[in-house]
Amino acid sequence: MDNVAVIGAQWGDEGKGKIVDLLTESADVIVRFQGGNNAGHTLVVNNEKFIFHLIPSGMLHKDKTCLIGPGVVIDPKVLLEEIDNLTKHGFFVRKNFKISGTAHVIMPYHREIDILCERKKGAKKIGTTGRGIGPAYEYKVGRRGIRVWDLIHPEQFRQKLDDVLSDVNDYVKAVFGHRGFDADNIYREYNSYADKIREFVVEGPLYLNGEISKNKKVLFEGAQGTMLDVDHGTYPFVTSSNTTAGGICTGSGISPTRITEIIGVSKAYTTRVGEGPFPTELFGDMGDRIRSMGAEYGATTGRPRRCGWLDLVALKYSAMVNGLTGIAITKADVLNGISRIKLATSYSMGTRTIDYVPSNIAEFEKCKPEYEELDGWETLDAAKGPDPLPQAVKRYIGFIESYTGVKVYILSVGADREKTIIFRDPFKA
Ligand code: GDP
Ligand code: IMO
Ligand code: MG
Repeated sequence: MDNVAVIGAQWGDEGKGKIVDLLTESADVIVRFQGGNNAGHTLVVNNEKFIFHLIPSGMLHKDKTCLIGPGVVIDPKVLLEEIDNLTKHGFFVRKNFKISGTAHVIMPYHREIDILCERKKGAKKIGTTGRGIGPAYEYKVGRRGIRVWDLIHPEQFRQKLDDVLSDVNDYVKAVFGHRGFDADNIYREYNSYADKIREFVVEGPLYLNGEISKNKKVLFEGAQGTMLDVDHGTYPFVTSSNTTAGGICTGSGISPTRITEIIGVSKAYTTRVGEGPFPTELFGDMGDRIRSMGAEYGATTGRPRRCGWLDLVALKYSAMVNGLTGIAITKADVLNGISRIKLATSYSMGTRTIDYVPSNIAEFEKCKPEYEELDGWETLDAAKGPDPLPQAVKRYIGFIESYTGVKVYILSVGADREKTIIFRDPFKA
């Protein structure tokens, strides 16, 4: 049994898409298990760029199966646009794509409520992607959600829609002075989506466990990152799903005993989009330099990402809550030419020094990073394997390994699939 998970170890955008694309080579089935089209996973293959929001990043490999698991929230319009785009480029193989019938559907009122709530919060906003993710999960947990199974059965859909809309309309009228949503319009629009996705819908967990029992290799693709986990992240400045390894099981319907390796993806520095505490954030020239060298603008919303040094305290926390067996460090090339590189190894919090992430946000907001400094490197252009690597990079990797207690399996030195050094392949570990 060989089933590997790729999890964001920071605040998202760590380069999970690239790592998933790379590991897909050794996998049979690639599964998204949480989040929705708040995710933007960028793959660069032969200088061509693809951004995946909902479809697993394994889809560029035409002989692999991609499954959207039960824990994902699906905006069908976005999904169909993604399918169209991949079809246009010759990468969409219909028989290889599956959607779990128990995944929830993002409805127009979810998107609208997301935006209205953010507006109402004003300066206290979360900085969401505005894709309706939070409300879709709220409705799911509140047992008022619409699942893909409902969507693809018109009568079942109409019934659920009428039931939920009476509540939704009372709410949006009372709280936001909104004029409300028209059931006929939504029904018509979503029925047309249903007709186009019906062929992909399956019993997700049954399919996946069946494949595992046939010894097929599964790759689980995380979205967002550990520090955005609704339980273990910087709440309330988080997304609304479990982005950590625990979410794999609930979000795909497999047992924890089925996962053999959990790879946390971390940039060689840190970024964050949206609001919320970020101890190592850089505000001056160095932050700007990293943003411009790393092209740090959101793949989903285009927002500039906040940039800072690598936070090892947070990375070690991520290793703990995910049980990481390996780390993939990405974007090491972005630090090329920086003579001294900083890594946060503790926080000062008032009069105390701590080496853990406090779960009380009020305490975390007070944390100031304490840094170790290491020599930087000039270039990684020649790096093709572990050996031509500059000594400074080796020391950097060694430092991360000894601080976190987790081995670095992969080093990424460019956006392209080829620009990767694999020290240890999790499918062959
Ligand atoms: P994800 O959401 O975790 O998949 O990450 P994103 O795709 O949102 O952001 C990562 C960005 O960095 C993308 O534009 C990638 O193409 C790019 N990228 C990934 N790895 C590397 C790398 O090693 N070096 C550089 N320069 N860019 C990278
Ligand atoms: P990938 O998978 C980075 C952030 C938003 C906001 C918070 C809540 O590409 O790494 P939401 O719309 O989910 O309710 O927003 O979470 N966020 C991400 N940040 N990468 C992502 O996905 C993100 N998905 C959500 O910016 O701060
Ligand atoms: Mg992203």
